[in-house]
Amino acid sequence: MDFMNSVLIIGSGGREHAILKALLRSDRPLCMYAYPGNPGMERDGCMLVDREIKSWSDLADWASQNEIDLTIVGPEAPLVDGIVDIFKKEKLAVFGPTKAAAEIEGSKAFSKDLMKKYNIPTAAYRTFTDKKSALKYLKEKGAPIVVKVSGLAAGKGAIVCETAEEAENALVEIFDEKKFGEAGARVILEEKMTGEEASVFVITDGKKYRILPVSQDHKAVGDGDTGPNTGGMGAYAPAPLVDEDLLSRIEKEIVKPVLNAMEQEGRKYQGLLYYGIMVTPDGPKVVEFNCRFGDPETQAVLPLVNCDWFEMFKSCATGRMTDKPWTVNQGYCVSVILASEGYPGSYEKGKVISGIDETEREKTNVDVYHSGTMFNNQEQLVTNGGRVLAVSAWADTLEEAIETAYLSVDGINFEGKMYRRDIGAKGLKRVEGQAKVGG
Ligand code: AMP
Ligand code: GLY
Repeated sequence: MDFMNSVLIIGSGGREHAILKALLRSDRPLCMYAYPGNPGMERDGCMLVDREIKSWSDLADWASQNEIDLTIVGPEAPLVDGIVDIFKKEKLAVFGPTKAAAEIEGSKAFSKDLMKKYNIPTAAYRTFTDKKSALKYLKEKGAPIVVKVSGLAAGKGAIVCETAEEAENALVEIFDEKKFGEAGARVILEEKMTGEEASVFVITDGKKYRILPVSQDHKAVGDGDTGPNTGGMGAYAPAPLVDEDLLSRIEKEIVKPVLNAMEQEGRKYQGLLYYGIMVTPDGPKVVEFNCRFGDPETQAVLPLVNCDWFEMFKSCATGRMTDKPWTVNQGYCVSVILASEGYPGSYEKGKVISGIDETEREKTNVDVYHSGTMFNNQEQLVTNGGRVLAVSAWADTLEEAIETAYLSVDGINFEGKMYRRDIGAKGLKRVEGQAKVGG
């Protein structure tokens, strides 16, 4: 029998489930564990860590005792907390940036200063630690303006303000009402950029890197990008917004310089770096960095890339990225999030979910990833979060991928099921436009 490698995935969302499925697609036999994991990961044969974990050191102990060959960290919080440093100290291979490198997401004040120092295109900004000076700057600059807390804020820390009054209110919430706690100790006021956004994922061992198919998220809750921002309501890849020329510009002006800058600052970046890019009339600029895969973009990107993901992650984690090429499917992948009615505000949990098995059985080009699900005490699969499932479909054309994704969405049900009906529509418009131009 082949030697089995053991892998631990940290996290419990659709992103982690998509990472698991990607790992399982290769022929390599793997013994999979997750902490805390989710019912979908369990159904795919992943064992959940059964010990009580009080700290990342506890989890590192567990990983050592269970001879885990590779740990992959999904979410930002453990990374910013320094989980990678703790695992490395125990001589465990772990995919993700160190605490110092994860600051690129954990501190917007740090990432903005880094970009300024190394001339990486981003919105003009100033950092503040008190309301009075922030208000003074706001008076000088006027609206529109973007108010951002420096620390981690679960995707809610950027407030795009169309009027000075909105910005003043945001500053009161941050400084006086301490709505964001410590994350709001430093605040950035920055120029509002215009354009469309793209998510550029770069996997790196610190020196070598590869760019994954570029995707687009859909952050607002409602069709046509209306309503409040969420963690992301769907994604698709590759995004025609970023053609080859634009991607090489992004690579030259942003991707490479950032990795070099991190190395020069003594914060060599290993893992997955998510570049949130705004394609403005003046060219591509950085909106934000994330020190991890995006959710739901991962659910649209990973199904397109074929490689031995264990080898890819492990070789990056140990500082020598494999030279073996990967293949990228020619078509498109679309991932639609099924959410609970009320999200991103309050919502009910515990609604019974039906139709997942049938959907996956019927179609070979569809995956259903779990994010907010659990088994109730009658062993029924029920909703347990705002974002419940991600339904991903891939096909030769974007149109077909969209159609298949939505057909599958129709087959999965729970009370209060809510989703955007226009995931990928922006891309489709662009593809159709390009076809016309091309004759
Ligand atoms: P962030 O938390 O920095 O990722 O920002 C969340 C979202 O706010 C981004 O995805 C953008 O849609 C929006 N945003 C942030 N900064 C800006 C900016 N300078 N100009 C326009 N929109 C922005
Ligand atoms: N989809 C946005 C994020 O992962 O932060």
